[in-house]
Amino acid sequence: MKVLLVSSSARGHAIAEALSRSHHNPQLICLSPNKNPGLLALAHRHEAMDIMNFDAVLKIAKEEQPEFAVIGPDDPIAGGLADLLEEQGIPCIAPRKSLARIESSKAFARELMQKYGIHSYPKFMAYQRADGKSMDRFIRGDFGGEFVVKYDALKGGKGVKVSGEHIHSVEEGIRYAEECIAECGKVVIEEKLIGVEFSLMSFASGTEVADMPAVQDHKRAYEGDTGPNTGGMGTYSCPDHSLPFLTPSDLDEAKKINRQIAAALLKECGHPYRGILYGGFIAVRDGVRVIEYNARFGDPEALNVLPILASDFVELCQSMIDGTFNPHFVRFAHQATVCKYITPKSYPDAKSEKGHEVIFPKCTKTGRIYYGDIAQDPSGKLLLGGSRSSGIVGIGSSLEEAEEIAQKMCSAVKGPVRFRKDIGTEELVQQRIDMMKKLRG
Ligand code: GLY
Repeated sequence: MKVLLVSSSARGHAIAEALSRSHHNPQLICLSPNKNPGLLALAHRHEAMDIMNFDAVLKIAKEEQPEFAVIGPDDPIAGGLADLLEEQGIPCIAPRKSLARIESSKAFARELMQKYGIHSYPKFMAYQRADGKSMDRFIRGDFGGEFVVKYDALKGGKGVKVSGEHIHSVEEGIRYAEECIAECGKVVIEEKLIGVEFSLMSFASGTEVADMPAVQDHKRAYEGDTGPNTGGMGTYSCPDHSLPFLTPSDLDEAKKINRQIAAALLKECGHPYRGILYGGFIAVRDGVRVIEYNARFGDPEALNVLPILASDFVELCQSMIDGTFNPHFVRFAHQATVCKYITPKSYPDAKSEKGHEVIFPKCTKTGRIYYGDIAQDPSGKLLLGGSRSSGIVGIGSSLEEAEEIAQKMCSAVKGPVRFRKDIGTEELVQQRIDMMKKLRG
């Protein structure tokens, strides 16, 4: 059996590894922007190419005739690669373009929730015209100057600006909103929510939905959640598949919302959503709200959940495709995971370490390395790219054990790199618990 994987980053390596654990022993055809050492080791065929060149992707798909395709990153999903592959008779684990608007259009996502009565969203307004007066009234009147401005298209994680963090006055916020309208035609302005964020990803096959363990991501570049936002510096998950700062009803609410979204998408778009539905949530004073939706595995969240997926991933994909998907067949080991991303020392700004050699310790069963922006030269040396280099994942029976494994492995990496030592530590987790206690009195 052949499976086509269109991927980028360490998430692609984690997906490839989960597919290759299948007892169906699939031949993986892996397409990604760089020659990824992880994919090289697992793939039957691995091409480094522009994955947004859909003609080139389709040509390889036609040559290889895979049984199905998995698409990892947001851009090809939002651009409609699943529609094109499915027209060629290759089913995809990734939603079609119209359904992927749940990620690629912030206005679509909010308006869908509003239309279908899924009430867990902040107050918002979508604007297509740069009406500064109305924006000013909305921001000052409704939430006393604390707000978020969202670009209405994909922007590599840089489209959302938050007051007090990236925006320092209402006027600056309105100027950014006007820029968004000029560039992509629409903008969403909404209330800034106060609480603790978490991710809940689910396998979705139409209205059949099965949840993965909840994960907490750390977007800020430096320890103590300081510095600029990044694609995610690391993540953790717990053996009970919840998170220490969530109540059972918080998690139930998030699960219910993912189901409501899958059902709403089916009604709105007329096609079942097939793939990964990623709810980005925030636990607030009185429950849970949706920050955003993604139409794919999270990065790094995929690195936490896929290594502990106990079901056969290929069989799950096949059942999603042939309509026999049963959420009861989706099982994850009850283990904790801590992922810390190794990045070039000056990430996210400089590229000065690009091309420098990096040496990793050996992988073990409980200490995994997933390669991202790393190139392998002809002599086998691993060379840094400019972005996140590799996700190191510790797996243990407790968060403490998983963190210790990840920390030890990260410390053993040699080269001009860094990682966040605080991710998954008791101290940082306790801060989240204390924040929720304070919020909820
Ligand atoms: N970890 C955030 C994302 O994948 O978008």
